[in-house]
Amino acid sequence: MLTLNAQSVHTGNLILVNASHGIQGDPEDVLVPACSRFPEILLQRCAATLLNELMKEIQGWDFIVPVSGYRSREEQQRIWDDSLRENGAEFTKKYVAVPGHSEHQTGLAIDLGLKAEHIDFIRPDFPYSGICQTFRERAAKYGFILRYPAGKEKITGISHEPWHFRYVGVPHAEIMVQRGLTLEEYTDFIRQFSYGSRPYLTQNGSGQIQIGFLPPALAAQWAADLPEARPHIISGNNVDGFILTEYLYGGSL
Ligand code: DAL
Ligand code: ZN
Repeated sequence: MLTLNAQSVHTGNLILVNASHGIQGDPEDVLVPACSRFPEILLQRCAATLLNELMKEIQGWDFIVPVSGYRSREEQQRIWDDSLRENGAEFTKKYVAVPGHSEHQTGLAIDLGLKAEHIDFIRPDFPYSGICQTFRERAAKYGFILRYPAGKEKITGISHEPWHFRYVGVPHAEIMVQRGLTLEEYTDFIRQFSYGSRPYLTQNGSGQIQIGFLPPALAAQWAADLPEARPHIISGNNVDGFILTEYLYGGSL
């Protein structure tokens, strides 16, 4: 039986991780290579699968390399310390998340770079043209968002990072792109669509998808009734509740 408890709020593909909302646990799924040619760069299995499907569609791995995927807390600390020493505090705060608060610790985030002899580890080149832009334009269809867009620095707390992509799943990535929302904004946006009374409805191909927000008590009750449930994915938001995505008819995950 699926049990949802206070800890579950901090798990799932839609968890918001930023300076105000830290990581509360380890990645839930197994970590696998983001790209078979770079076996040391890892992602949660689902994110890796979708990334590779996207790369296959655009033959992306011929031109793009994975630069950084899953990081342990210790690794994030080391990157933070090295950057402080080499680049100073102002730069580091702009481009490196405080240890314990990096999306890379979830195994759902990947930094990508255009293949080159020298690749900058903290700020890889991933231009708004050519194959990189093709990747960016297709990303939402596969559940990925550009996590730190230009103009939203005050909301994300991080400078524009053209190379950093976060897996949140479909249809959430597409809704965020259509509405121009960061994950911070989407977390607030979805909270108004209560499961049961006022869900958000969207279409995915011929299927209909219903998205609803559940506070923890309602989520626990929903989990207890699970045998009745439709195909679904449930994720904590890492703040105050759960986002339930239900596939009503003909929709696919
Ligand atoms: N570069 C991003 C913000 C990180 O360190 O997680
Ligand atoms: Zn990154």
